[in-house]
Amino acid sequence: MLCYGVEMLDEQIERIRNEFESDTQRARSPQDLHNKYLGRKSGLVTLLLKQLQQVPAAEKPNAGKRINELKLEVEAGLDRLESEAAAQALAVRLESERVDVTLPGNRRPAGHAHPLTLVRSEIEEIFSFMGYSVEDGPEIESAFYNFEALNIPEHHPARDSQDTFYISDSLLLRTHTSPVQIRTMQKQRPPLRIICPGKVYRRDNPDATHSPAFQQIEGLAVDEGLTFRDFKGTLEFFLKSFFSQKTRVRFRPSYFAFTEPSAEVDISCIFCSGAGCRVCKASGWVEMLGAGMVDPAVFRYVDYDPEKLAGFAFGLGIERFAMLKYSVNNIQHFYDSDLRFLEQF
Ligand code: DAH
Repeated sequence: MLCYGVEMLDEQIERIRNEFESDTQRARSPQDLHNKYLGRKSGLVTLLLKQLQQVPAAEKPNAGKRINELKLEVEAGLDRLESEAAAQALAVRLESERVDVTLPGNRRPAGHAHPLTLVRSEIEEIFSFMGYSVEDGPEIESAFYNFEALNIPEHHPARDSQDTFYISDSLLLRTHTSPVQIRTMQKQRPPLRIICPGKVYRRDNPDATHSPAFQQIEGLAVDEGLTFRDFKGTLEFFLKSFFSQKTRVRFRPSYFAFTEPSAEVDISCIFCSGAGCRVCKASGWVEMLGAGMVDPAVFRYVDYDPEKLAGFAFGLGIERFAMLKYSVNNIQHFYDSDLRFLEQF
């Protein structure tokens, strides 16, 4: 390998260049080729550089330049090989880890709304269509809001502790959503159109139609010149929208301390269309709401002028609406958290 002239050096450079060329085409690993050509002890290019010492001084610069050119070529070639190898390795990996996005996925079980939530939302939608907004109030309520301001005085039978969960003499779990009427009228000036959904509590033993905790929606409209016709029209529109346009609606005289006149509102039985069945106890009618024109005494509690203003109010049980709509014959199903029941909605 020793040489002493530029001629011989040129031959060697050319030979190594050709050898490198054919090595790179034979797909050897970049690391092997690096060792073979640039290895610190015996790399072919390294050895050439070592021979420079023996080249006559006059020819050294020229010879050094050529060897360096070769070295740069080899380095560039190795770089190219390395990036090709990396690209190929990546391609192999992508191929082996390929994901078929068209395969059907594993469905995760997703929850959905509870039937009582569905009914509440639907009722909210019907009333918001008529311009009502949704209000909220506390479940722990004072006797003032739950009773007194609703014209239910101290010794009224509705206050009986047989029916009410008292926390103290003046605090209780609200027995209806009607106190939100009072709270809203205190905060807002008329005209007013609101509904208030929420939980209420009564000391009832659980059975097919009773639960110590259940849900109501209260409604209230107050404006100048509101009449019983507005009241009837609103509730008829609501009940027909919720059940069906064929549903007939009936207003029966009744009594509530906070409305005058008061009514209980029935619909024609949706199971027998009024012919009489077990659900309507052969009467053809099912009671759905308590309601009436706001009693002037209630307006006085909130500083509304009963001479100028009129209003109507109503209250309904969400469970009752859900039982009729979905033909559920036991209110306890709504609270049992049995998936066989819940998954049907
Ligand atoms: N608060 C009554 C109850 O729980 C329902 C009710 C009746 C609400 C008449 C009203 C109403 O707003 O006007 O039985």
